Amino acid sequence: MDSGFRSNILLVDDEPNALRVLSAILREASYNTYQAAGVDEALEIVSAENIDAVITDLKMPGKDGLQLFHHLKSYYPDLPVIFLTAFGTVDSAVTAMTEGAFFYFIKPPDYVKLKAILAKAVEQKKLRNEIADLRSRLETTYKFSSIIGKSPGMVDVFRTVEMIKDSSTNVLIAGETGTGKELLARAIHYTSRRHYRPFVAVNCAAVPRELMEAEFFGHEKGAFTGAASGRAGKFESADTGTLFLDEIGEMELSLQAKLLRAIQEKEIERIGGNNKIKVDVRLIASTNRDLAKEVRKKSFRADLYYRLNVVQIKLPPLRERKTDLPLLITHFIDKFADRENRGVTSVLPEVMHVLLQYDWPGNVRELENVIERAVVLAKGDVIGLRDIPAEFRKEVRNRAHSVGDLKPLKEIELEMVKQALNTFQGNKSKAARALGITRKALYKKLENVK
Ligand SMILES: Nc1ncnc2c1ncn2[C@@H]1O[C@H](COP(=O)(O)OP(=O)(O)OP(=O)(O)O)[C@@H](O)[C@H]1O
Ligand SMILES: [Mg+2]
Repeated sequence: MDSGFRSNILLVDDEPNALRVLSAILREASYNTYQAAGVDEALEIVSAENIDAVITDLKMPGKDGLQLFHHLKSYYPDLPVIFLTAFGTVDSAVTAMTEGAFFYFIKPPDYVKLKAILAKAVEQKKLRNEIADLRSRLETTYKFSSIIGKSPGMVDVFRTVEMIKDSSTNVLIAGETGTGKELLARAIHYTSRRHYRPFVAVNCAAVPRELMEAEFFGHEKGAFTGAASGRAGKFESADTGTLFLDEIGEMELSLQAKLLRAIQEKEIERIGGNNKIKVDVRLIASTNRDLAKEVRKKSFRADLYYRLNVVQIKLPPLRERKTDLPLLITHFIDKFADRENRGVTSVLPEVMHVLLQYDWPGNVRELENVIERAVVLAKGDVIGLRDIPAEFRKEVRNRAHSVGDLKPLKEIELEMVKQALNTFQGNKSKAARALGITRKALYKKLENVK
């Protein structure tokens, strides 16, 4: 093996001689081998060791190879099983193949071929492990809770996502640049029932107009100059999963019409093709424009708007949810300190003060960039004023001359409390929960201003 570590192969046979021969041959080929004389012993080894493939005799006294296979299939579905069988039991081996066994050989096997097949089996197992690993990592990255926020505005967003998570309705996500539209779209997908199916994103603002249609629907070979081979479009790639139409407001009218048809008929046609292809996709669209206004201006089709806008989620701009700032700041410090291997853990109070005062036109993305830079620049474990961009510092310097202009933290806090109360129509328990404080603490903050 060139990968540096050896694969573990379990050999099962009631005949010691057969085990010995096979084991010697595989060790020669740089495999680690384990030997079992029967099914029970084999299962013990599988549960204790990290086995990559099993080669088993079919006919054995007591439990036979088929029983072993069935057990493995239900408990270790990714573990490839290769059968060795005597001439008389080929039928059972063939049946096992139809049930998902990897391969079978008639005894005595051609060892060169056996090694080639075994290499394939091991490779497939590794690939499946990688996919499972990747998938679970994706799911943890985008699981709902990776969206930071406890402001009333974000709590509202989470509540809506919770409500729609098991349905396949189309969703429109509206929000300014950098508010987390794409993050939310992925979160919706990865918490939905389609989470193990593909999530495919198209950025309608980034693809040149003349390529957009092919991007969506694919094309057949020779459909246009340069189309040397056929290619599936994003719709086909997203089949049974989610198609994310990023910045849908940038789509031109003629393509809007084609998109609408695809949604209504649930089928598409590749450019230059004449086959209708059925597709089952859930659509999540995002926009930083006021699409309703675009509809009134006739630059966006009303019928498409209604199709996409079944559920609308508005992501509030960061300046309207400053209660989330401390959480987000900690989140990004952790993220970048981890990546950069630095011991940064927090920001100085005066930095927090400045960050709370700022308007954040670039929203969470802008904050993320500021913190990333600060973590890299910070000398010790705390981010100071000199670690944040010059504009911020300048602002503070200007204000330092007239400290009276700086809003005291108490006042900002109070603004947040009022904002929360407003959102929950005066319900103090709900407001307190959204702010992450107790009801008593909330009363206290209100009292202090009187
Ligand atoms: N609530 C949040 N919690 C944690 N990270 C967030 C949050 N919102 C946004 N981010 C991060 O901020 C960055 C910008 O988010 P995203 O790309 O989803 O925004 P967007 O609305 O699609 O922006 P644009 O309009 O510029 O495309 C990403 O790195 C994302 O992970
Ligand atoms: Mg985006």
